[in-house]
Amino acid sequence: MIKVALIGATGYTGRELIRRLLRHREVEIRHLSAITEKEEPISSIFPSLSSNLILRSTMRVEEVAECEVVFLCLPHKVSMEYVPSLLDFGNRVIDLSADFRLKDPSVYEEWYGERHAAFILLKESVYGLPELYRREIKEANLIANPGCYPTSCLLGLAPLIKNRLIDLTSIVIDAKSGVSGAGRNPSLPTHFPEANEGCKAYSLFTHRHIPEIEQELSGIAGERVAVTFVPHLVPMDCGMLSTIYLRLQKETDLIGLYKDFYNGEPFIRIMNEPPVTKDTTGTNLCLIHPKSEGKRAVILSAIDNLIKGASGQAVQNMNIMFSFPETEGLL
Ligand SMILES: NC(=O)c1ccc[n+]([C@@H]2O[C@H](COP(=O)([O-])OP(=O)(O)OC[C@H]3O[C@@H](n4cnc5c(N)ncnc54)[C@H](OP(=O)(O)O)[C@@H]3O)[C@@H](O)[C@H]2O)c1
Repeated sequence: MIKVALIGATGYTGRELIRRLLRHREVEIRHLSAITEKEEPISSIFPSLSSNLILRSTMRVEEVAECEVVFLCLPHKVSMEYVPSLLDFGNRVIDLSADFRLKDPSVYEEWYGERHAAFILLKESVYGLPELYRREIKEANLIANPGCYPTSCLLGLAPLIKNRLIDLTSIVIDAKSGVSGAGRNPSLPTHFPEANEGCKAYSLFTHRHIPEIEQELSGIAGERVAVTFVPHLVPMDCGMLSTIYLRLQKETDLIGLYKDFYNGEPFIRIMNEPPVTKDTTGTNLCLIHPKSEGKRAVILSAIDNLIKGASGQAVQNMNIMFSFPETEGLL
């Protein structure tokens, strides 16, 4: 049994993480906090959580220091203020924000508009995508939990890029996300009358997940890979579907290739038909349907942005780090 702390507990990823940690047989939640005026049971904030654990209004050092692992469900730029001292306490950290995903501090500065406050730690952070980095995750003290769009895109593309089967200049990603992807704090684009009954593309060529996707694809390919990535907001609470268009180097049996590549992976399902986002809701699954006609190919990759795209993947990473069964708390 390990003790865990969660900071940023009043957001959507916090809620889904608590839900999974409460049913995890190897974990005791020792500390929950967020910026809040009132200390109250977490079930008062999220009635669907059956727990009387008290939400602290600030981080309690004495509670956090005795935890084996701390989850940060905080906005980017906030996480990097916490991580150095948590590592000094001896905590292992799983950060759900983007702060430790990009390896090059100048790329972070370019895309996030600020110098990285703990850039020295970028070298030691491990990108927490278990299907690609399971061995490194096991030993890591600092996990950069991947973004939701990158998770769906990288899982959709990795088998082809590892096997050098595609024209690397041909990748176009049309991705759609539910509104919870923007977090719980309201904003005009996520306001119900703005988002409901419509579908909107946003952040063309400027979305901050572009450098993350390109960094990871380039790492797999061993050469620079650039993608055309167009995210869309669609009127659903959660769910994400990435439709990836590309050209193959040669005609290939994609279903066979993907089944071999992900053989034994507990959360990847290779589908014979296009996946539906609803089938991933509340699960840590990534449903992938690869299809080709000659050298033209389309890969469909569906996840729940809050689960495989965030909190479920964070629990999967913790399970790997502490040698728990990888599916514990996630089925
Ligand atoms: N939503 C997704 O689908 C998704 C997927 C992958 C990764 N992520 C990443 O995961 C992180 C959390 O996302 P989310 O969707 O859960 O966001 P959220 O719903 O906006 O929640 C953010 C949490 O952080 C707290 N917080 C904000 N500023 C703080 C500060 N200075 N100190 C302490 N706590 C602070 C908030 O408290 P208040 O409620 O008091 O503001 C809230 O508890 C973000 O970095 C996000 O990019 C999100």
